[in-house]
Amino acid sequence: MNLYPLLRPLLFRLDPETAHRITLSALDLAAQLGPLNPLRQRRLEHPVEVMGLRFPNPVGLAAGLDKNGDYIRGLADLGFGFLEVGTVTPRPQPGNPPPRLFRLPEAEALINRMGFNNAGIDHLVSRLERLGPRDFILGVNLGKNKDTPQERAADDYRLGMEKVHALADYVTINISSPNTPGLRDLQYGEALEDLLAALDRHRDRLAQRSGRRLPLVVKIAPDLTPEQLRRQADCFLRHHVDGVVATNTTIDHSAVAHRPAGRESGGLSGAPLRDRATAVVRQLHAILGDALPIIACGGILRPEDALAKFEAGAKLVQLYTGLVYRGPALITEILAALKRQRASDSG
Ligand SMILES: Cc1cc2nc3c(=O)[nH]c(=O)nc-3n(C[C@H](O)[C@H](O)[C@H](O)COP(=O)(O)O)c2cc1C
Repeated sequence: MNLYPLLRPLLFRLDPETAHRITLSALDLAAQLGPLNPLRQRRLEHPVEVMGLRFPNPVGLAAGLDKNGDYIRGLADLGFGFLEVGTVTPRPQPGNPPPRLFRLPEAEALINRMGFNNAGIDHLVSRLERLGPRDFILGVNLGKNKDTPQERAADDYRLGMEKVHALADYVTINISSPNTPGLRDLQYGEALEDLLAALDRHRDRLAQRSGRRLPLVVKIAPDLTPEQLRRQADCFLRHHVDGVVATNTTIDHSAVAHRPAGRESGGLSGAPLRDRATAVVRQLHAILGDALPIIACGGILRPEDALAKFEAGAKLVQLYTGLVYRGPALITEILAALKRQRASDSG
């Protein structure tokens, strides 16, 4: 039974961060009691092979919801085929002062300027070490500490890769959050070239030591010009990147600027991001073809939004804001829509 429509008005009376904490704690408790198991079965119904990994289904959790890997079991039980935890930085950091997360319910949107609040990589590693056998794919999204100088950014990502390479199925290099000053400058020109070259070399070194090549994914912003996107794509191919998450939140608030919360600084997610993120997927797919898989993220609030991402060329999709507005039923609705589509394609 879908209880979320009943719970949502109660949760929305709380401030967004408190609602977030309560929901995840309840989920954790539920996972320990085991009542979500039927959804778990459904998770295994749509296997896809991407980046040499077998995903039980193509619907994943986007980064930022479980930054510290504290709620992995409960979230996996909702039926996701994969989870991306993080963003995690080498050292713990508090993030920006609250309030830093804002709901725009009429627009089915959020604005956040969390600023990579997280407990640090060692906390996440201890969580992953305790996880035990799992039947879903786990990605770790890596960032840099706010006080790491820009020219040392590669060190932070390298450290993250090193710490999780035996525990994660893939890592995502986050260079697109709008809430860490200077981070998005790593998306362009020489800075991108140098960063990806360094990470590719580091990955080779880790592979020599461990015998396993860690898939590297890069998460990009939706605010790039077509020319910037083309240059990025060339750079990804040169440095053997394995996948792209498109996209992070947008700094363009024009769709919600008439609302008071719309004037808060931070990244905008949810429905107003949907078409822009889909356009990036389409453009990237036109450039890359099937050379690099695209993980689409941004504004998926209904099953048809997810189908549009696949139609634009995505191999996998991720959800964040859609879960806040529609609840976990969104995952099973998307899986059901995929099943229907598959049946009608083959029929
Ligand atoms: C509160 C919040 C925190 C987020 N934190 C992160 C993060 O730490 N790392 C990251 O890569 N993306 C983060 N994101 C971005 C999401 O992963 C996603 O890319 C974006 O919200 C667009 O998807 P959506 O419209 O489905 O929410 C965050 C988003 C929100 C709303």
